[in-house]
Amino acid sequence: MRILITGGAGFVGSSLGLMLKRDRAEVDVCAFDNLRRRGSELALGRLKDGGVEFVHGDIRSTDDLADLGKFDLLIECSAEPSVQAGYGGSPAYVLQTNLTGTINCLEAARRHGADVIFLSTSRVYPIDRLRALPLVPSRHRLDIPAADAGIGWSARGISTEFPLAGHRSMYGATKLASELIIDEYRAMYGLRTIVNRCGVLSGPWQMGRVDQGFLVLWAARHAFGGTLAYSGFGGQGLQVRDVLHIADLYDLIALQMNELTRHSGSVHNVGGGYDRSVSLAELTHACQRRTGTAIPIASRPETSAADVPYYITDNTAVTAATGWAPRRSLDALLDDLFAWLREHRTILEPVLGMAPSPAPAAP
Ligand SMILES: NC(=O)c1ccc[n+]([C@@H]2O[C@H](COP(=O)([O-])OP(=O)(O)OC[C@H]3O[C@@H](n4cnc5c(N)ncnc54)[C@H](O)[C@@H]3O)[C@@H](O)[C@H]2O)c1
Repeated sequence: MRILITGGAGFVGSSLGLMLKRDRAEVDVCAFDNLRRRGSELALGRLKDGGVEFVHGDIRSTDDLADLGKFDLLIECSAEPSVQAGYGGSPAYVLQTNLTGTINCLEAARRHGADVIFLSTSRVYPIDRLRALPLVPSRHRLDIPAADAGIGWSARGISTEFPLAGHRSMYGATKLASELIIDEYRAMYGLRTIVNRCGVLSGPWQMGRVDQGFLVLWAARHAFGGTLAYSGFGGQGLQVRDVLHIADLYDLIALQMNELTRHSGSVHNVGGGYDRSVSLAELTHACQRRTGTAIPIASRPETSAADVPYYITDNTAVTAATGWAPRRSLDALLDDLFAWLREHRTILEPVLGMAPSPAPAAP
């Protein structure tokens, strides 16, 4: 069996590839990536040591995909993963990678009769509708009152019943459009397909930035020094996200892979859930407790066009369908992050520190 992981040098792709190879030595795992994401190059040594083949290439190029040869399962993890992509500039890259590139991948999967697992996002849900949730501020966070509920939302979080009408950013739109096309490939060509709409994911080897990977960004600034800012929604850091440990995502995907026929066609929200949710203000306290230091945190009240104040995954449906539920706590995740930052400080500080060295030119 040969598994192709597009975006295989990125945070999710490299983590899944290495865990798959660790658990199933007999399977060939190929990581395919154009190394656009700053820090993805750090995965190459780890992939090699873990027995994962690396191929440099671009999903925008059908020739690059054709050169890969046959594979049996595609795990599509390549993306421009920032919800800010395209704001204030051209949307060309996010459209060409997240939509046209996904279609190129589906075509390759169709030619080889391969199964497809697609990493989608909570950002398929419309921005204005998420902003309209009845959120109540307490001292450190926003919350949905326990007794309140509506279509697709409750204090448990957001389910796939949440209405989809409305704008959602170019990132969210390309992911939702990809989901629709994936389902046509399933219906028309018999591909077995699974879509996981993930909330925030985190873990060691995530190259956290202001616009993606906030848990690592927060931890790295506290560990290495620097400054941060509470941006948007009044600038007090009350906005909330749930966070899923990458090892928990792997557990789900391993389970889905083992029963692809049964789970084919499924579209699930997948995330940490309420028990693994955190506001920026709460995260600051958690980081301060671990490092014993407080760093300057600015307040920028203005809200950017794509930001939402609150997202928590309702895992009820995915748990009912698969028996899976997250097992690692948020505390365990933060412990893992700080241990990783300490252990690999020399190579991580140039990428995650306050004054990163210049990014390589985009391939
Ligand atoms: N990390 C999260 O919190 C999160 C949450 C929800 C969904 N997702 C989805 O999971 C997937 C993986 O995200 P991630 O966090 O690992 O991001 P990442 O940026 O770490 O990884 C994406 C990888 O894709 C590569 N890539 C970008 N454009 C490419 C192209 N045209 N051809 C080939 N490779 C290309 C990048 O170099 C990078 O290594 C994405 O589809 C993302 O939308 C991530």
